[in-house]
Amino acid sequence: MENQPTVPTIIDLPKFLDRRGSLSFIEQDKHVPFEIARTYWVYDVPGGSKRGGHAYRRNQEFIVALSGSFDVVLVNERGEKKIWHMNRSYYGLYIPSGWWRELENFATNSVALVLSSTSYDPDDYIRDFEQYRKEFA
Ligand code: TYD
Repeated sequence: MENQPTVPTIIDLPKFLDRRGSLSFIEQDKHVPFEIARTYWVYDVPGGSKRGGHAYRRNQEFIVALSGSFDVVLVNERGEKKIWHMNRSYYGLYIPSGWWRELENFATNSVALVLSSTSYDPDDYIRDFEQYRKEFA
């Protein structure tokens, strides 16, 4: 991808559909606007549970609803909130660093696939919203 979006953006993925079903894929540099350092997935989320509740200082992410559905709630440093309902596996949500996020409203058996631009680094997390506002104001 040539341009790196500066705000959270839905990115459509290739989709091949035929009688046997559907296939989508992600290639580094073509479909996600960063070099992929890590992949993780969130699953078996009990009804009513929330994931996230933090911001990353450096890490960028691309989130795909591989199965089922959930909401990605993003808040910026001004407290402006936007909710993305993720329910198809042929697109993903690109989230630049510096956005407060929560994943919630998981349907049973949902799987959230996450591609990350950095390796896991606990020091990259901001887990306190006031601290987040201070750092990004
Ligand atoms: P956590 O950040 O609390 O998950 P979420 O953002 O979905 O709420 O991570 C849960 C646990 O998993 C925590 O102990 C850290 C660990 N973890 C890793 O070891 N590597 C990773 O890449 C991630 C995302 C989490």
